Amino acid sequence: MKQLFAVALFASALSFSANAQEVTYPLPAPAISGGRPLMDVISERHSSRAFSPRPIDDQTLSEVLYAAYGVSHDQGKRTIPMARGKNTMNVYVFRADGVWLYNPLRLNLSQVYPKDMRFIFATQDYAKDVPVHLVFTGPEEDYSAMEAGSAYQNVGLYATSRGLNNIVRGFFDKKKVAEILNIDDDEVIVSQAIGWPPQQ
Ligand SMILES: Cc1cc2nc3c(=O)[nH]c(=O)nc-3n(C[C@H](O)[C@H](O)[C@H](O)COP(=O)(O)O)c2cc1C
Repeated sequence: MKQLFAVALFASALSFSANAQEVTYPLPAPAISGGRPLMDVISERHSSRAFSPRPIDDQTLSEVLYAAYGVSHDQGKRTIPMARGKNTMNVYVFRADGVWLYNPLRLNLSQVYPKDMRFIFATQDYAKDVPVHLVFTGPEEDYSAMEAGSAYQNVGLYATSRGLNNIVRGFFDKKKVAEILNIDDDEVIVSQAIGWPPQQ
């Protein structure tokens, strides 16, 4: 019975848009005020190489993604500066239920791949248990790599404030990731592992 309820809950959380191919996953509105004092989190930011497998709840994930690339102003501005105001960078989420693209304007995720592909990031032992890997992508000519740097720094600061562990990672199979995302190899910039500290 419990299992049936969980399946029904999951099915209702996924919605099928007008385009029958598109599976979307709604995100709760991020809390856009509060958190720990800025200078404290700047001073405490650090990389971690130990993670609990405990999943990241939707509210926390929505706030991670808002920090990375959310829409923060009425005029459509993002939480990071964008070169020439173009929004060509993308943020993907690799988690147990598949691979998803973050849509900041729609405040949802759209499914890119229906299977758990996190093993791609297990190129270092500590990365095996990570619940969420973000991947930042975009064309080099649009300065996407610099935008990814702004995004992962924001996520690192949010993680410090929220008590999450995180680490930016360049060591993973970018070719395989590009295949899954159906983009050019050189558009895969960098990844970031996010999770709770061990024993949580
Ligand atoms: C672009 C970039 C790529 C990185 N790639 C990896 C990686 O593949 N594996 C890893 O363990 N750490 C990686 N790191 C994390 C750095 O090793 C880490 O930031 C550095 O040791 C400084 O530690 P701190 O972040 O705690 O100050 C990367 C960091 C950056 C900025």
